[in-house]
Amino acid sequence: MSKTGKNNKTLELIKNRRTIRTYDPKPLTQEEINMVIYGAMRAPTAGNMMFYSIIQVTDQKMKDKLVITCDNQPHIAKAPLVLIFLADMQRWWDYFKICKTRELCDEIGVEFQTPQESDLLLACCDALIAAQNAVITAEALRIGSCYIGDIVENIEIHRKMFNLTRWVFPIIMVCFGYPKGNKEKIPLTPRFSQKFIHFTNKYNRLNEQDFTEMFQNVKRSYDVKQAKNLGQKFYFAKLAADYSMEMRRSVKVAIKDWSMKNNNM
Ligand SMILES: Cc1cc2nc3c(=O)[nH]c(=O)nc-3n(C[C@H](O)[C@H](O)[C@H](O)COP(=O)(O)O)c2cc1C
Repeated sequence: MSKTGKNNKTLELIKNRRTIRTYDPKPLTQEEINMVIYGAMRAPTAGNMMFYSIIQVTDQKMKDKLVITCDNQPHIAKAPLVLIFLADMQRWWDYFKICKTRELCDEIGVEFQTPQESDLLLACCDALIAAQNAVITAEALRIGSCYIGDIVENIEIHRKMFNLTRWVFPIIMVCFGYPKGNKEKIPLTPRFSQKFIHFTNKYNRLNEQDFTEMFQNVKRSYDVKQAKNLGQKFYFAKLAADYSMEMRRSVKVAIKDWSMKNNNM
């Protein structure tokens, strides 16, 4: 990183953040939890409409179940604070119903809209931006965090567990807790060079030579039988892995239900 912002506490915090998966069992205080939630709620939100909700999972049995439903990740059960960030259009459409908005549409002869794919994406943006604000707020309190993307799996089970309705989608979960031991010992994970990520004015599709350069310092060892190169290893270890297949299935179900046009609100 350049010298710009040297000694700036916020930038140092962003620079030194790393995912924490092993937690000190010490619980967070209510004041700390409130601060993390407050940080999340100060995040920018589309039209200031807050198209998200946050579920704090305090029930240990539920955390234990999430370990299983989120691709067998034991650190979920041991996290002192677990928050699920929901893309939520239910709240607004329930309000529209209370306000007899459909009736007004009928009266003036315009079609009443129910949430579609674009609304889901917008609500996901809101929820994810709130989640990242929570992560940074926690970091400022020296509380570590770990995103759990696998919360999008097993939609049927998660709907039942958390009483989720059609226009509420769990886009991300975050585990929080004080790091066990010295977090500085966990090395910062490397990133691709900026030139492969940051373009000016136009998207730049990479060619074979770019990829060779982009991956030249990437040291990852995935034990994938039959894979002959890094691309094949990444594909089979990540994007064709069982959890990715389950994500695709589960999200397809959620999007179908979310965007289905019918009169049942
Ligand atoms: C959308 C998203 C989903 C993630 N899902 C998981 C997960 O399910 N389990 C996990 O241990 N880490 C998860 N992570 C954490 C990443 O593995 C981590 O951010 C990445 O390896 C980079 O490391 P760093 O955060 O320490 O820089 C997720 C991160 C993001 C942004």
